[in-house]
Amino acid sequence: MKPMKRLVTAVAATAVTASALLVPATAQAAPILATTAASSNCVVTGGELKWGVKEGFRSYISGTIANGSWEVADGASYETPLFSWTNPTGQIDAETGEGSISFTGSVHFTGHEGVLNLQIANPTIVLGGDGTAQLLLDTKSNNAQGELVVDEQQAYLGKVEGFGQLDPASGAIALDKAPTVLTSDGAAAFGDFYASGDELDPVSLSLQLGPCEGTPAKPVDAPDEAEDAVVITQEPEAAVPILPIAIGAIALIVIAATAVMLIVGRKKGAGQGADGAVAGGDEPEADAEGNASPQD
Ligand code: HEM
Repeated sequence: MKPMKRLVTAVAATAVTASALLVPATAQAAPILATTAASSNCVVTGGELKWGVKEGFRSYISGTIANGSWEVADGASYETPLFSWTNPTGQIDAETGEGSISFTGSVHFTGHEGVLNLQIANPTIVLGGDGTAQLLLDTKSNNAQGELVVDEQQAYLGKVEGFGQLDPASGAIALDKAPTVLTSDGAAAFGDFYASGDELDPVSLSLQLGPCEGTPAKPVDAPDEAEDAVVITQEPEAAVPILPIAIGAIALIVIAATAVMLIVGRKKGAGQGADGAVAGGDEPEADAEGNASPQD
C-alpha cells in the first residue's frame, strides 16, 4: 500500500471509531420512574362567609323603584350590610391550595310586586389554588316579564380575586373583603341590568381547619403501587462526552504523527527515486499540488 493510501485508511478508521464512541452518549433516552406528589387534605371544621351581594342592588330593591325586600332562610342571616352563612363543609389541599367550601342557606329578593324574584342559595367557594376562587350559588331568577329564565344549581356567579397565598395547614384562613366581580352567568340572574365583570360586594371568608391528613408520595420501587407511578421519559442532560473527546484527540495526534512520518519517509523515498531506487507501483502518485503524474 502506498503511503498516501495508508494515511487515508488510518484517518477513515479513526473517524469510524470516534463516531462509534460518541453515539451512545447522545442518542439514547433514559426512562425514569417518578412518584405521584404527596397530597394532604385539610378538612374544614368551621367558619363563616360574609357577602353583601351588591350594595347598589340592595338599594334598588329596598328603594322606591322596586319597592321590594329580601328574606333569609335555612341558615343564612343578614346584618346590615352583610349576608352571612356558617357551618361550612369542605376541604383544602395543603399542597396546591385548591379546595371547595360549601355553606347552606338562602337569600330571596323580591320586588316589582313579585315580577322581580331572585333567589340565591347554598354558596360554595371553589379555591383555584392560584389566588382566585369561584363563588357558586343555586340561582333562580325572573326576567322583567316575570318569566323564570334562570334556574341553576351551583351557578358560577362571582369570580373572587386576590386571595393571595393560603396556608391551610396553619389551621385557619382569614380572607377579608376579597374583590369579587360578576360572571356572565351572574349577569343573567340580575336581569342583565349588570354586565359581566361588574363589581360585586367583596367576599370575606374565615375558616377553621382540622389536621391535614396526607397521602404520602409513593416510593419509586414499590411494584404494588405502580398504578400511581408516572413514567417520564427524560432526555439525558447534554453532558460533554469527555472520554470520547480525549480518545479522539489522542487518535488525531497519532494520525498527525503518522502523517508526518509518512511524508518525511516519502520525501526521502523521492530523493532516492531520483537515483532510480524507488520501488515500482501500479498507481499514479500525486505531486505537491495534488496533480496525478504517471508512473515511470
Ligand atoms: C316590572 C319589572 C321591572 C321594572 C319595571 C324594573 C325597573 C327598573 C328600573 C327603572 C331600574 C333603574 C334603571 C336605572 O337606574 O338605570 C332598574 C334597575 C335594575 N333592575 Fe329592574 N325592573 C324590573 C324587573 C327587574 C328584574 C326581574 C330584575 C332581575 C333581578 C331586575 C334587576 C334590576 C337591576 C339589577 C337593576 C340595577 C340596580 C342598580 O344597581 O342600580 N329588574 N329596574
